[in-house]
Amino acid sequence: MTATYEIRLAGHLDDHWAATLGDLDLARLDDGTTTLTGPVVDQARLHGVLARVRDLGASLLTLRLVESPARPPLTRTLRTERLTLRPGTAADAEATWAYRRLDTVAAWLTEHPTDLEAYRSTFTDPERLAATVVVERDGTLVGDLMLRVEDAWAQSEVADRARRRQAELGWVLDPAYTGRGYATEAVRALLAHCFTDLGVRRVVATCFLANTTSWRLMERVGMRREGHAVADSLHRSGQWLDTVTYALLAPSE
Ligand SMILES: CC(C)(COP(=O)(O)OP(=O)(O)OC[C@H]1O[C@@H](n2cnc3c(N)ncnc32)[C@H](O)[C@@H]1OP(=O)(O)O)[C@@H](O)C(=O)NCCC(=O)NCCS
Repeated sequence: MTATYEIRLAGHLDDHWAATLGDLDLARLDDGTTTLTGPVVDQARLHGVLARVRDLGASLLTLRLVESPARPPLTRTLRTERLTLRPGTAADAEATWAYRRLDTVAAWLTEHPTDLEAYRSTFTDPERLAATVVVERDGTLVGDLMLRVEDAWAQSEVADRARRRQAELGWVLDPAYTGRGYATEAVRALLAHCFTDLGVRRVVATCFLANTTSWRLMERVGMRREGHAVADSLHRSGQWLDTVTYALLAPSE
């Protein structure tokens, strides 16, 4: 996947180095530094550029990801017996804020948003939207899911084969719609999409051990408890809580 990086070097480089460094845009700045900016197709190419910078004897000051193309979390809209799952959009910020700001919901989540505009700006971050799936029942948004496809851990010689083979899921329902099996139905559809359409071979999910409704959902959809970390995560109450990790392999594995 092509991403745009900005490489900042100490000192001023001559123009002809831009081609040597992989046709990046070169700019000499007034503060005495040089930036090289441009698309880098993959991590191997980025490492190649950095190796050439080192060979030049130039000092690398910063490396920054300027733009990462966001791809939608789903390759198509998913329909189940009662629900529709579609990629989240900026227009879903207010509907998700309505339940994510509630104490009972936020108690289990990383963020407890208290200001709509701040929440909107986090929710509409392209990386966040690229991992957000919303769940609708008869056209009403009833919850949202996280689907983050990632590289599985691999040794370097075989890293190519581990790219985008794993996914992490997360879930939140509006409390007005819990207790009816909607999360189970939505997560089952998402698991099937991961395994049949996205080429994912393993799906993981994590929650506080105290969040019984969440890990019971993991067990309902067939995930198995693979890890239990003791007092590893700090809750905003000030308590260090246990977390559990669940996973499921594709039926073909
Ligand atoms: C985690 C969360 C999504 C689970 O919601 P949920 O309502 O328990 O899950 P489901 O929608 O699958 O519903 C299951 C419940 O409905 C019942 N149910 C009714 N009809 C059902 C059906 N057709 N199929 C399955 N279950 C059904 C089940 O018996 C179960 O109830 P029970 O827990 O009393 O046994 C929800 O509690 C939530 O949003 N919590 C706050 C945010 C959060 O904690 N997110 C996870 C962070 S890690």
